[in-house]
Amino acid sequence: MNIVVGVTGGIAAYKSVQLVRLLVKAGHDVTVVPTDDALRFVGLPTWEALSHNPVTTSVHDDVARVRHVALGQGADLVVVAPATANTIAKMAAGIADNLLGTTLLATEAPVLIAPAMHAEMWRHPATTANIGTLRDRGVHIVGPAVGELAGGDSGPGRMVEPEEIAEAALALLTPRDLDGVRIAVSAGGTREPLDPVRYLGNRSSGRQGVALAAEAAARGAVVTLVAANISADVLAEARHPSIAVVPVGTAAELADAMADAAVDAQAVVMAAAVADYRPAVVSDRKLTKEGGGVPAIELVETPDIVAGLVSRRRDGQVIVGFAAETPQSEEELVERARRKQQRKGVDLLVVNEVGWERGFESAGNAVHILGDGGEVVATAEGTKREVATAVLDAIVEALAPLRRR
Ligand code: C5P
Repeated sequence: MNIVVGVTGGIAAYKSVQLVRLLVKAGHDVTVVPTDDALRFVGLPTWEALSHNPVTTSVHDDVARVRHVALGQGADLVVVAPATANTIAKMAAGIADNLLGTTLLATEAPVLIAPAMHAEMWRHPATTANIGTLRDRGVHIVGPAVGELAGGDSGPGRMVEPEEIAEAALALLTPRDLDGVRIAVSAGGTREPLDPVRYLGNRSSGRQGVALAAEAAARGAVVTLVAANISADVLAEARHPSIAVVPVGTAAELADAMADAAVDAQAVVMAAAVADYRPAVVSDRKLTKEGGGVPAIELVETPDIVAGLVSRRRDGQVIVGFAAETPQSEEELVERARRKQQRKGVDLLVVNEVGWERGFESAGNAVHILGDGGEVVATAEGTKREVATAVLDAIVEALAPLRRR
C-alpha cells in the first residue's frame, strides 16, 4: 500500500525515522513529506535512504506529474508524525501552503496524526478546538502521551512511540471484513510420545498458523488458536485480546481442542502439521539399550482430524485444510492438492511446497489455494503474514454467500 508520512518541525521528528523503517519493513511503499522546518531536525538524505523514494518539501518540484496533488490522490493512508500545533491548526483551517498541506487536502485516504508539542500548547483552547475539528472530520489521532518534554518539563504533549504509531497506521490499512466472525485455527506440529522423553514429531514451527490467527484478529475475527508445540517467541505474534490460545501436544489432544473450538466457529483452519501415525505403545519408562538389539516401533494411524470436522460441519461453516507437498513439478503439486481436496472434502485447500530448505521453519511461504471444485482460486508468495492475508481473503469470499443465507 502507499503510505505518505508527513513529518513536521518538532524534535520528535527523530522518532519518525523509526516509524518510516517500521512501515517499510511491513512491506509498504512509503513517501516522506517533510516540512522545511522538519528538515532542520532530520535531513532529507535520511528520509530518502529509509523510504527508498525521492523526498521534497516543495510544491514546485515534479510539476509534470502534478506532485502536489498526486501524492494525496495515490495514498492509501497519510500519517503525520510528529504533528505540531502549527500543522494541526493549518489542517483544521485547510491551509495548503506546502507540499504536506496540498497532499492532505487532496487525499481521500484515512489520515492519522501523532501530535507532539509542549503541554501548554496542547492544552491551549485553540489546539483543543482544532483537534476537535479534526476528530469530527474523521482524522485519527494517536497520543500525545504524558511524559518528559524537550524543555525538560513534563506533561501531556509527548509524541507516542513509533511502534504505537505504526500499529495504529497498519490497523487503519487492515479491512475489518471478519468483524465478529469466529475462527478456529490449528497451528504447529504434533508430537507423539514413545516414552517419557522421546516423541515422533515434525519441523513445523507454527509460524503460518500464528500469522493466520494474528491477521484474522486484526481483521476483526474472534480466534481460538490451538497451538501444538509452538515456541514462545513464535506465539508472541498472536498476542491479541481477540485470540484465545489453547496449547496441545498430541494429535488426539489437538482433535479434541479443535472439535470444541469448531462448535461455534464460522471458519475452521487446519494449518497444523498433524502426525499421521503414532507409536502403538507408549512406554511408561524410558526405552534403554539394556535389552540389546534395535527396538522395532509399531505405528498405528491417527484419525484424520480435518475429515472428522468436515463430517460434522455445521451449516454455513467454511473448512480449510493445508497440504505440504514435495512434488517434482508445479503440475504435480496442484494435482496432488486437487486429489487431497476431494478426499478430505474441505472448502479450501492451501498447498505449499516443502523441502529441506523451504516451507517449514522459514519466514516466507508460497502457496496455491484451491476451491471446493479443485480449481486454483488464488496463489500467494511472500511473508507468512502476506500468505495469511491471501488465505483470509479466500475465506471471506467463501463465507460471503453463506453469510447472506
Ligand atoms: O494428508 P495430509 O496430512 O497431507 O493433510 C494435511 C491436512 O490434513 C492439514 O490440514 C492437516 O492439519 C490435516 N490433518 C488432519 N489429521 C491428520 C493429518 C492431517 O487433520 N491426522
